[in-house]
Amino acid sequence: MSKTMLELVNISKAYRDGTEKRQILDDVSLSVNEGEFIAIVGPSGSGKSTLLSIAGLLLSPDSGKVLIAGEDVTSRSRREHTKLRRRRIGFIFQNHDLLPYLKTEDQLAIIQEKSQRDKVKTDDLLRELDIENCRGQFPSKMSGGEKQRAAIARAFVNDPDVILADEPTASLDAERGRRVAEMIRSEVKKRKKAAVMVTHDTRILDLTDKIYRIDNCKLITYEQH
Ligand SMILES: Nc1ncnc2c1ncn2[C@@H]1O[C@H](COP(=O)(O)OP(=O)(O)O)[C@@H](O)[C@H]1O
Ligand SMILES: [Mg+2]
Repeated sequence: MSKTMLELVNISKAYRDGTEKRQILDDVSLSVNEGEFIAIVGPSGSGKSTLLSIAGLLLSPDSGKVLIAGEDVTSRSRREHTKLRRRRIGFIFQNHDLLPYLKTEDQLAIIQEKSQRDKVKTDDLLRELDIENCRGQFPSKMSGGEKQRAAIARAFVNDPDVILADEPTASLDAERGRRVAEMIRSEVKKRKKAAVMVTHDTRILDLTDKIYRIDNCKLITYEQH
């Protein structure tokens, strides 16, 4: 049986705008198994990034629990959250988020945990993502697609349990966007990660295993194939 690597249980979150309280997520639950690639869609402002930030231990929910590989990590300290994020979660953002003064290989090297026993090899990742030629290059010399693929390599380098991608294809044209989503899928399947991708791009949804939609602060199953 597949292991549940990411679990959100009864998560609620509201933002306070002065005296006003605005509910963003209301009693949302989600589980993602190893090797599963799920998509979350929903209009702008519906709470997709909020949900991903909670899953990634960047933001605390008002109530509910976050479990990683079966372990409830909700109430850990900020310091513990930072550690868990580095070791067990790989992030991919819309705008690659690479550091401008580092070559591709160093973008990976600086975040690579030396203690990780089953370290994923940079060489393998760069080959699989077809960016070996970018190894010694700075982001300014790389195309949008190459930069996004370097960001994918970086997300996988510490062999995390969970991959979280927030609109990873939004800055790319249709063809490059699809290629990036295909590569995320292929790494997720090969390396048995639990992956959540937030996206607006309906043309790449066929690459995912399950689609959810945030609607009125609730997470609903949109389609399953
Ligand atoms: N730190 C914050 N404080 C107050 N409101 C916020 C904050 N972050 C996001 N919001 C609001 O919460 C809503 C959901 O935001 P977000 O999760 O970024 O949506 P999405 O990613 O689906 O576009 C938006 O209306 C946004 O303006
Ligand atoms: Mg967002």
